Amino acid sequence: MQFDDSFNFRNFLLVFTMVVGNLQAEDSTDSVERTIENFNRINANLSCGSQPQSESHFAKLQKLGFKTVVCVDGTSPNLKMLRKHGLRSVHIPLPYSGIPQESSRMLTKAMRECEKPIFVHCHHGLHRGPAAAAVCGIAQVHFSQKEAVKFLQTVGTDPAYVGLYRDVQNFSVLSTEDDRQLSRIQLLEQAPATKLSDVMVRIESHFRFLKDQATKQQQSNDSWTEHSVAIIEEFKEAGRLYKQADNLKIELQESVQTATSLRLTVGNHERSVALKVLEKSCVQCHAKRR
Ligand code: HEC
Repeated sequence: MQFDDSFNFRNFLLVFTMVVGNLQAEDSTDSVERTIENFNRINANLSCGSQPQSESHFAKLQKLGFKTVVCVDGTSPNLKMLRKHGLRSVHIPLPYSGIPQESSRMLTKAMRECEKPIFVHCHHGLHRGPAAAAVCGIAQVHFSQKEAVKFLQTVGTDPAYVGLYRDVQNFSVLSTEDDRQLSRIQLLEQAPATKLSDVMVRIESHFRFLKDQATKQQQSNDSWTEHSVAIIEEFKEAGRLYKQADNLKIELQESVQTATSLRLTVGNHERSVALKVLEKSCVQCHAKRR
């Protein structure tokens, strides 16, 4: 029958296209996905994912032809491994609260001047890494802001990182004035180590913001989420930065729980109580250590 034949042919075409599409995807990314989590390719020049951990991860990046690895996590890149596998390191640590203007410039400079393909990573490869890659995409790959935001949604960047979404959305190709600034910017293979005190200063500023809003009884749910999520992530970062396996490390991990409870609260009263609980944990930990 005419209709059935053409229907089957269309089905065949559809399946054929899907199979070929999958094979192509496997060729390019499947092997990486098995080793580097959350690997996502924007185009041939630009991909992002989680932090390469073992030697096999670095070897895989080399095998796939990557030339430059941009790390946006606070922990220092493994320069020895990167060098061994012929990969250039660029280190641009980013907070969770957004992408500062200076960092956007650095990402642009990396995208313009470093040998490609470029692999951008944070710790998990879900939030800061994709946001940084999206900025690189807008800077050089002619990604529109809309496509960049769509990319974040597709890879699973949590909308709670309001600042990351906002700064990707607001980033545009640099003005001539910004362009001039690029020449004074130096890309470092390893940024000065983020200190526990740097992370604490960021925690303090998010905490102050929430406390201030609670006092004025003016919290919006969006800003509550934005700042409480930032506190959670900064405590996680503090735990990663602090290498000794002692009580402080355990307490920093427990603080992630306390901050998570804070995030889940609703309403002025519940939020004020949760802020007091968190503040008590700040004071208790500091009393033992400062
Ligand atoms: C589990 C332990 C722990 C908790 C909980 C904790 N801190 Fe800290 N904090 C530290 C340590 C340790 C230092 C000292 C870091 C250093 O100087 O190396 C510090 C330092 C600080 C500093 C000083 C940074 C500087 O400039 O030297 C501030 C501000 C701060 N914390 C804010 C907070 C706030 C706000 C909270 C609660 C929301 C908090 N901390 C919770 C361990 C903790």
